[in-house]
Amino acid sequence: APPILRTVADLRDQIARWRREGARIGLIPTMGALHDGHMALVRRALDAGERAVVSIFVNPTQFGPNEDFAAYPRREAEDVAKLAAIGGHLVWAPMVEEMYPEGFATHVAVSRLTDGLDGPFRPGHFQGVATVVTKLLLQVLPDRAYFGEKDYQQLQVVRRMVRDLDIPTEIVGVPTVREADGLALSSRNVYLSPEERRIAAMLPQVMRETADAALAGQVPFAELLAAAKARLAAEGFGPIDYVSIYDAERLVPVEDLARPARLFAAARIGRTRLIDNIPIEAS
Ligand code: PAJ
Repeated sequence: APPILRTVADLRDQIARWRREGARIGLIPTMGALHDGHMALVRRALDAGERAVVSIFVNPTQFGPNEDFAAYPRREAEDVAKLAAIGGHLVWAPMVEEMYPEGFATHVAVSRLTDGLDGPFRPGHFQGVATVVTKLLLQVLPDRAYFGEKDYQQLQVVRRMVRDLDIPTEIVGVPTVREADGLALSSRNVYLSPEERRIAAMLPQVMRETADAALAGQVPFAELLAAAKARLAAEGFGPIDYVSIYDAERLVPVEDLARPARLFAAARIGRTRLIDNIPIEAS
């Protein structure tokens, strides 16, 4: 099984040993409760011949006061077993006190890209993500770091931040891994009751149909998006935070497909908040 390291000092020792051997290092940042979406990121690093360093840290600073920090699933032993099975090299699982020692006072904030989509619904979330990802990148100094398109706004925020701060790591985006019925894998899917799980599959379905209608180009986006929200509400979602078409790179709302665009949605079922996004291109 891969070793589990808990201190920055031990982590740096291991990374230095690998660097002396000339190894390349891939970082896969996670909050654990690993599923096949996470494992796809790990596999990408292994396929590239990298030492796959998987961080498992449920980052308190990216959860709002009314969010699920306490309830978030924590399954370290199972996670380590899954990583051992595919040959993951190292688990970096610091305690909160190691990540945020007494007196911690520094933050990384990425503007503009965080103005829309989840930004207004999760105040402070992306600052928490940007700060912890900066720390993880500086702790591990990987050649590459892998992020899922599932959290597309997060991926774009990380890309921007790495460019702006001259962090010498290549950011690799990995397509969303889905269940057979289309639901994007998420650690939060464990919150869904069987009935909610059935309804949840309507989200990717309505999104696919909406993206296809946008591609067909017969109806203004605003009408398509309003119809999608109404359908989701009728299926049992609520509240629906947004269903929007945004420029895939700049993350600003668009009304045509002159540039690459994506459809984004966030909606609640019971106490679970689901997010998803798909490119608006022929499927
Ligand atoms: P977490 O939700 O555990 O996700 C870790 C990584 O797995 C992220 O890059 C996420 O986009 C990716 N991922 C999740 N579900 C996926 C799926 N179905 N298909 C493909 N990739 C998927 O995202 C976070 O943790 C945190 O914000 C983190 C970046 C670790 C910072 O704390």
